Amino acid sequence: MAPIKHTDLYPTNQYRLRPMPDLKTILGPLTLKNPTILASGIMDEDAGSMHRMITSGAGAIVTKSIGLDPRPGYPNPTIVETPCGLLNAMGLPNPGITDFTHELDLLRNAPVPIIGSIYGKDPEEFSTLARHMERHHVAAVELNVSCPHAKHYGMEVGMDPQILSNITAAVTHTVHIPVYVKLSPNVTDIVILAQAAADAHADAIVAINTLKGMSIDLDVRRPILANRTGGYSGPAIKPIGVRCVYDISQHVSIPVIGVGGITTGADVLEYLMAGASAVQIGTAVYLRGPTVFSHITQEITDWLTTHHVARLSDLIGAAHP
Ligand SMILES: Cc1cc2nc3c(=O)[nH]c(=O)nc-3n(C[C@H](O)[C@H](O)[C@H](O)COP(=O)(O)O)c2cc1C
Repeated sequence: MAPIKHTDLYPTNQYRLRPMPDLKTILGPLTLKNPTILASGIMDEDAGSMHRMITSGAGAIVTKSIGLDPRPGYPNPTIVETPCGLLNAMGLPNPGITDFTHELDLLRNAPVPIIGSIYGKDPEEFSTLARHMERHHVAAVELNVSCPHAKHYGMEVGMDPQILSNITAAVTHTVHIPVYVKLSPNVTDIVILAQAAADAHADAIVAINTLKGMSIDLDVRRPILANRTGGYSGPAIKPIGVRCVYDISQHVSIPVIGVGGITTGADVLEYLMAGASAVQIGTAVYLRGPTVFSHITQEITDWLTTHHVARLSDLIGAAHP
């Protein structure tokens, strides 16, 4: 009997396994194994919860926004669930940079990049915090100049292009790691702010933080949140985030990281086609659970396979003329 040849068993190409699509994405010196990043403020206030998000498949992690001193945050209620998203006014609760760096030390050998989010009231505070983060081995810092509900911080310092430029320049001169600037959509023209950050040598723009909103309790006829107003996140804000990323990526040459309302793999692809190089995911961790990262990654893989796209990075900016 003639020996069985490989070609007899597999006579056509139909049984050959197609290579898996490449989900890697590049943010300057950082390469992410997939484009999904945990957004700031969600399951990221201690090393244990961040580790859980890493094992759930996130390509990188952004920490809770950390300030110089401990902050208790606002009294309850701090979160309202609405039909299409969450309204929150946590008030930036955090342990302060000194205590938080112990958590960072526990993540020193993390298999994915850890990005340290910081907030401050002026360039000096931001620079001091960035230096602390760098000493404790974060891969990049993210400047929160966009929180809509913290007096003297966040959006209050991030809406003026000159102040934003001063803060960004101070930090980029202080540290040697990449500096990301997270912008607010609660402005007339987000592109002007993105250009101010890019001109001050930011390494990436993160868009968007939450939109300022309010919910009212009909029975007591008062706003539900103790802070009255809060930041709106979740599926309803996705078209706004996509529009911001599209506009920003047309006007700056640094990478844009998209965030706002991402819940599925299709949402990620929409942001990438708008011009994002990576995305962040927040509210969907509440909606789909911590395994959202591996589910979304699988959904992206399935789409790329069906559409014969070998590399995710080929889709970045595909929606631009
Ligand atoms: C409960 C909660 C806390 C948040 N805390 C922070 C924070 O500390 N710093 C920050 O920059 N953004 C914070 N955000 C905003 C998110 O990082 C993200 O920009 C926003 O929620 C939009 O993304 P999403 O629709 O995927 O949630 C918070 C959002 C939520 C819902």
